[in-house]
Amino acid sequence: MSHLVNRRNFLKTSVLTGAALGFQDSIQAFSTTKKEVVRIGIIGAGFRSQEHIGNFCQRPDVQITAIADPQERSIKDAVAEIVKYNRPEPAIYKNGPLDYKNLLKREDVDAVVICSPWEWHSIQAIDAMNAGKIPGVEVCGAVKLQECWDVVNTSERTKVPLMMLENVCYRRDVMAVLNMVRKGFFGELLHAQGGYEHDLRGVLFNDGITAYNSGVEFGKNAYSEAQWRTEHNLKRNGELYPTHGLGPVAVMMDINRGNRMTKLSSIASKSKGLHKYIVEHPKGGPNHPNAKLNFKCGDIVNTQIQCSNGESILLTHDVSSPRPYNLGFRVQGTEGLWQDYGAGGKTQGFIYFEKEMKHSHKWDNTEKWLTEHDHPLWQKYGAAAEGAGHGGMDFFVDHAFIECVKRGTEFPLDVYDYASWYSITPLSEKSIAEGGQIQLIPDFTRGKFKTRKPIFAFGDDY
Ligand SMILES: NC(=O)c1ccc[n+]([C@@H]2O[C@H](COP(=O)([O-])OP(=O)(O)OC[C@H]3O[C@@H](n4cnc5c(N)ncnc54)[C@H](O)[C@@H]3O)[C@@H](O)[C@H]2O)c1
Repeated sequence: MSHLVNRRNFLKTSVLTGAALGFQDSIQAFSTTKKEVVRIGIIGAGFRSQEHIGNFCQRPDVQITAIADPQERSIKDAVAEIVKYNRPEPAIYKNGPLDYKNLLKREDVDAVVICSPWEWHSIQAIDAMNAGKIPGVEVCGAVKLQECWDVVNTSERTKVPLMMLENVCYRRDVMAVLNMVRKGFFGELLHAQGGYEHDLRGVLFNDGITAYNSGVEFGKNAYSEAQWRTEHNLKRNGELYPTHGLGPVAVMMDINRGNRMTKLSSIASKSKGLHKYIVEHPKGGPNHPNAKLNFKCGDIVNTQIQCSNGESILLTHDVSSPRPYNLGFRVQGTEGLWQDYGAGGKTQGFIYFEKEMKHSHKWDNTEKWLTEHDHPLWQKYGAAAEGAGHGGMDFFVDHAFIECVKRGTEFPLDVYDYASWYSITPLSEKSIAEGGQIQLIPDFTRGKFKTRKPIFAFGDDY
C-alpha cells in the first residue's frame, strides 16, 4: 500500500476524533455548524498552490471546487494535479487578475487558499472575508503597512477569521524545540534568530520556459516566481520575506498571545549578487539589458526586533548570495541554546543545556534531543505527512487550516500574526531608508495580546 493511501485512511479514522479548542477572542463565531467537508477555492494556481492541491486531494474532507488564475499554464497544471487524484475538475476563473472576485461569489466555496504574487495577498484576503469566505494566506510581507490594518479591521468587522499559512512553524526540528521551550529546557527565552537565507538567484531569473536555473529574464519574459518576485528585489530594499524566520520564533515567544513585537531597526548590505548573476550567466553578460539595472534590495538585510517581554529577535534576509539553504534558527534562553545549520534534519543542529551538560561548554548534536522531544503532532502524523512538501511540514499547515474550518475553531496562526509578521517588511524598508532608524511596530491586537493565551500546537490534534 502506498503512503498516499495510508494517509487517506489514517485521516479518515483519526482526525475527526480530536477535541476542539475553545474560542478565545473576538473573531469567533464564524461557524456554528460543523462541516464534514471543506470546499476550497484556490486563488493563484502556480507552483505553491499545486503543493497545497496535492495535500488537499489526499483528504476525504476537502473538495477543490474552483480555481482562479489569469495564467493558462498555471490553470492547466493545477487542474492536472487535481485530476491525477481522480477528483472532479473545478470551475475555472481565468479572465484576468480580477476574475477571482467571481470565484468568491460561488456558494460552493467555504474557504480560499491564496497563493498569488505578494502584492495581491491582502487585497484578495480582504475581498474573501467581505464575501464571507475564510482565507488561508501564503507567506510574504506586506507592500504597505496600512494593508495590515485593513486586513485586521476587515476580519474583526466581518467576523471571518484568516489563517496565516506559515509552514515552517510546523518543521519537525522547530516543533521539537518548541516542545523543549515549553518544557522549560531553555529557561527564560532571551533572544532568537531566524531568517530567509536561500540562494534564489536561479529562481529569480529564468528563460520563461523552465522555472529554475535557465536564464536571466524576469517579468513578462519569465515563468513562475521570476514573473513577479524579482520586481520586489529590483524596487524595494527591506526584509522582503520575514515569516519563515519569524513565525517559528514568534510562536516560541508567545507573540500576540502574552507578548508582542514593539519596535525594529534594519540595515542592508550593498546589492551585488543579482547583477553579478546576470553578468556571469551564459545567457546574460555585461551587455544584457538586465545587467544595466540596479537592484535595490541589499544582499543581506538584518532586522533587529524588540519584544514587550524583553526578548530580542534577529531576522536575516539573503536570497542572492552563494550559500546552502539554511534559515539560521537560533533560540537562546537563560539555560540553553539551539542553533540550526541545515534544512530541518534532526542531526543538522547544535544544542547546549548548561545543567544537563554539566557546564561543559561543548555543543551536543541535536539528534538525541530532537528525537526524544519530537512534538506529539509529528509523532501522530509523521507517517501521514511523509511525501508532503518541504519535508512534510506542508501537511501540518494544511491539516490545521482544514481542521479549524471544519470545527469552527480558532486558527493557531491568525489574523494578528498575519498583520504583525507582514508589517515587518514595510517597516524594515522605512528603517533602511532612514539609515536604520527605529520603527514602532503597531499592536494589531489593540491590547488583546495581554490576555490572549497561546494556542499553537498544544497536544496532537492540529
Ligand atoms: N510556504 C512556502 O514554503 C512557499 C513556497 C513557495 C512559494 N510560497 C509563496 O506562495 C505564493 C505563490 O508563489 P508560487 O511559487 O506559487 O508563484 P507562481 O508564480 O508559481 O504562482 C503564482 C500564480 O499566481 C497567479 N496570479 C497572478 N495574479 C493573480 C491574480 N490577480 N489572481 C489570481 N492569481 C494570480 C500567477 O498567474 C501564477 O500562476 C507566494 O506568496 C510565495 O511567496 C510559499
